[in-house]
Amino acid sequence: MQEPTTPAERAKFAAARRALDYVEPGMRLGLGTGSTAVFLVRLLGERMADRDLLCVPTSSRTAALATECGLNVRALEDVDALDLTIDGADEFDPGLTLIKGGGGSLLQEKIVAAASARMVVIADESKAVSRLGAFPLPVEVVRFGWRSTMRHIERLLATEDVDGRGVRRRTAGDEPFVTDEGHFILDLDLGRIGDAPGLARRLDSLPGVVETGLFLGLADAAIVGREDGGVDFV
Ligand code: 5RP
Repeated sequence: MQEPTTPAERAKFAAARRALDYVEPGMRLGLGTGSTAVFLVRLLGERMADRDLLCVPTSSRTAALATECGLNVRALEDVDALDLTIDGADEFDPGLTLIKGGGGSLLQEKIVAAASARMVVIADESKAVSRLGAFPLPVEVVRFGWRSTMRHIERLLATEDVDGRGVRRRTAGDEPFVTDEGHFILDLDLGRIGDAPGLARRLDSLPGVVETGLFLGLADAAIVGREDGGVDFV
C-alpha cells in the first residue's frame, strides 16, 4: 500500500490502522467513504481479506476499491444487519454528532450506519470540533424542483440558530454533482449550528429533501489519528 506522506494523511492512516482492532473474523462490516476510509479498505484488504468478512460499501467508489482489494463485497439488501460500520467524518462534536457528506455519499452512509450495531468514526484531529457548523452541511435533495427545495431551505435558515445562511448546489467541475442515488447535494454555509437535532428534523420535513449530513445518535466512538502516528479516543 502507498505509505501516507503528508501529516494529515499520517493522522488518517493512524486512525484507520487502529480501527482494525475492532474488526473480528466473520463480521458483517460497513465500509465508509472518503480518504480515511480508503486507508481502512486498503488495510483490510492487506491484512484481513482471509477473515471471512462480509463488507457492505457506502458508495460505488468504496465498492470498487474494496473489490480491487480482494474483500468480499455485498449489498446491504443481501446482508440485512451489520455488526460494525467504520467511516470517516467531516466534523464531530464531543457528543459524537457528526457532519458527513463531504464526499457526497451521506445517504448510503447513513443507511449503512443505521443498519449497524456499532459505528466507529475514523478521522484526523482537524475533524474534532467543540461546535458543529464550520464545515458546510451537505443536504441531499431530489433533482425535481431543486431550486424550489433550495428556497424552502433558505426560508427555514432565516429562522434557525445559525451564523451563516448561504445555500449552494454542489458542482463537480462545470457540472452539478450527482450522488450514487441520482440526487443533487446542496451545501449549507452555516458557520455554527446551535440546535443540530432541531435543524435536522426541520430540514427532513421539507419536500424534496432526501437526507441531511447530520448524523445524530449513530456513532458510538471516534478514533482520532494524530500526525505523530498516535491516536486518541472519543
Ligand atoms: C463522505 C464522507 C466522508 O466520510 C467525509 O467527507 C470524510 O472524508 P475524509 O476521510 O476524506 O476526510 O462523509 O461522504
